[in-house]
Amino acid sequence: MSPKTAYESEPLEKLPSDERVFPIAWYPVAWSKELRNKPIKRRLAGRDIVLYRNGRGQVRCLEAYCAHRGADLSLGKCINGRLQCAYHGWEFSDSGRCERIPAHPGRPIPDFAKVKSYPVEEKVQLIWVYPREIPAQELPDLQVFPELDDPRFVLAAYDEEWQAHLTRVVESVLDVAHLAFVHRKTIGRKVSPEIKEMDFDVKSPDVISIRNGSGYLEYWFPQQWILRTSKTTGPQFVNYVVFSPIDFSHTKIFGFAGRTFARRIPGISRIFSYYSRRILREDQGIVESQHPRPIPEALRMEAHVPADGPQIRFRQRWFDFLTGDEPRLIL
Ligand code: FES
Ligand SMILES: [Fe+2]
Repeated sequence: MSPKTAYESEPLEKLPSDERVFPIAWYPVAWSKELRNKPIKRRLAGRDIVLYRNGRGQVRCLEAYCAHRGADLSLGKCINGRLQCAYHGWEFSDSGRCERIPAHPGRPIPDFAKVKSYPVEEKVQLIWVYPREIPAQELPDLQVFPELDDPRFVLAAYDEEWQAHLTRVVESVLDVAHLAFVHRKTIGRKVSPEIKEMDFDVKSPDVISIRNGSGYLEYWFPQQWILRTSKTTGPQFVNYVVFSPIDFSHTKIFGFAGRTFARRIPGISRIFSYYSRRILREDQGIVESQHPRPIPEALRMEAHVPADGPQIRFRQRWFDFLTGDEPRLIL
């Protein structure tokens, strides 16, 4: 038999396709108010996770399936400050270690009786997870835009889930030329389809700012975006969204419409939430229709015009991520 060529001896590499690779970052997975006494299950970047409150009411996040027989830990409950599996009662501490096996109370607990534990934080009404086991001293700070922490702003919350890849969702909020078409009944009503000049700025590879009429957009790679009015005095309004990859074909969107005016008028927040959701739904059908599902793996694979400038900067940053050595989540 003739020696194998390199090609034959190395069958097609099982590299993850680009659509299955995501940056590691703080991602929100639930509203704080959704998590009370009962644990809840969520999915982040293809990983099922369980959120619960420990004995002190702090949120904790473990991988969702029990180390014993794989039962869903969100069916369990918090007891003795630990998450107890509903099947045979094993109790897991905040760190994911099993600390009690009721069938064998006197015996040492084997090392393999543990599940993954992920950093989790509550901030601006949301529960955020950092989807990687990491020592506390290496954990990056969870940063959000200052308006969200500013007590002058009342935040009207909303959320949506799209059947779309994170990259397509991000691009939809960096896109100015779609306003006059997709949002012609709402925010694009008075917007001209012509983009005379694309006014945007890349302050660092992770920050893209776009000036658009009286609006000023800012995006932080990979997941956060805000729209501000360019006025710096008087009543202020912002709209904020943050994206979490549920898996490679679903993205969760959490948002706030924030305002410093009409703070106490009943029902106004509900109207802002409703309107923000309506605008997102105008985008949804278009973004869910896009093919290929993630942005293609090279710039030349779709047509670009000057109005797409901010998206091109995003693509460059995304391709740097895909081809560089930044830590990543692989589904
Ligand atoms: S499956 Fe969880 S304790 Fe047995
Ligand atoms: Fe849009």
